Amino acid sequence: MKTSYLIVCIFFLGLLPVTTLFISCNSSDKSSNDKAAKEDSLKIKIERGRYLAYHVSGCIDCHSQRDYKKFSGLIINGSEGKGGEVFNEIYSIPGVVFARNITPDTVNGIGKWTDEEIARAITRGISRNGDTLFPIMPYPHYNQMSKGDIYSIIAFLRTLKPNNNKVTERKLFVPLTTVYPQLPSSMLEYNVKPDVSDIVKYGAYMVNSAACMDCHTPMEKGKYQMDKLFSGGFVFNLGTFIVTTANITPDTATGIGKWTEEMFLDKFKHYRDPSLYVSDPGKMNSIMPWSLFAKMDDFDIKAIYRYLRTVPAVNHHVDKYPPAK
Ligand code: HEC
Ligand code: HEC
Repeated sequence: MKTSYLIVCIFFLGLLPVTTLFISCNSSDKSSNDKAAKEDSLKIKIERGRYLAYHVSGCIDCHSQRDYKKFSGLIINGSEGKGGEVFNEIYSIPGVVFARNITPDTVNGIGKWTDEEIARAITRGISRNGDTLFPIMPYPHYNQMSKGDIYSIIAFLRTLKPNNNKVTERKLFVPLTTVYPQLPSSMLEYNVKPDVSDIVKYGAYMVNSAACMDCHTPMEKGKYQMDKLFSGGFVFNLGTFIVTTANITPDTATGIGKWTEEMFLDKFKHYRDPSLYVSDPGKMNSIMPWSLFAKMDDFDIKAIYRYLRTVPAVNHHVDKYPPAK
């Protein structure tokens, strides 16, 4: 992202040699122009980061408090980034881990971390003190995002209101290395965001950035069943409701093979309606953060659809709302 702006700037200046000359002759104008350009590019970066953190990559979804008396666990206003959400056996975790405080609070948040330390945690799962994070935090996916997108997210996190919420320490019953022995190495420098003209590739990038796989792939003994990729069946028992993730492969009998692009887009757009979040949906609730995903760009949703058409169709029947045992 940063480099592309640089290229745009160079291109722009190249087109206007006279202006460039004028600016370079007048140093006070130059510095105020530079400052304005920097502020503009930071603004664009923060907006991109906000979009990803809220509506694509789930950062705000997991790192805030959710209200399950509202459909799809609406984010509680003012809790953005404060952490504390519990991840336990419901998520096939041998123990309990808590989403951490990622607001700029200098005591309990990440206010004192450098951009590089935050990037290392997001893309490699290494906390500031060197500890490995449990991979429920989807860093193996974020590891494949472009450097521009990751640093945009970091720029956005710095704009969150600092919250001094102190998050409880995690408790794991087995050493982390037995669950997830290998850390992905950082390829951040080399990662590229595919161009939107290659919609399938771009869609794959979005699906990875949103970690759709993690919820939509069944697990056995803590391992994803890769032959059942995207075929659903992950059961979430949240006490007040039980929901199973859907089969989103192109299988026509048990997946979304019969859905047109328009139906897929409409499904997401439907959840943009705020009246859907007024009353308690009881047992018909979902853990899929529809209220956040619904605000993805139409183009991004279509790209996701186009990519999902290309994954292997898996015949795997799923009961979205299984009868309570
Ligand atoms: C599925 C839920 C989930 C999503 C999505 C998620 N996180 Fe996390 N994150 C966690 C959990 C849980 C931990 C703590 C893991 C542990 O204790 O081992 C964590 C840890 C972190 C840490 C380390 C903080 C520290 O003090 O060590 C950072 C930074 C972070 N997440 C940022 C992000 C960002 C940025 C995003 C979006 C790009 C994101 N997370 C998306 C669940 C999530
Ligand atoms: C936190 C877990 C979670 C994440 C992340 C998640 N989903 Fe879901 N999804 C679910 C659950 C649970 C359901 C079934 C209940 C429902 O329809 O809301 C579902 C349902 C769906 C459906 C409806 C299918 C049908 O047959 O009605 C689609 C389409 C879908 N998800 C696509 C996606 C895509 C695309 C992503 C990534 C951008 C994604 N999901 C990320 C949990 C998740």
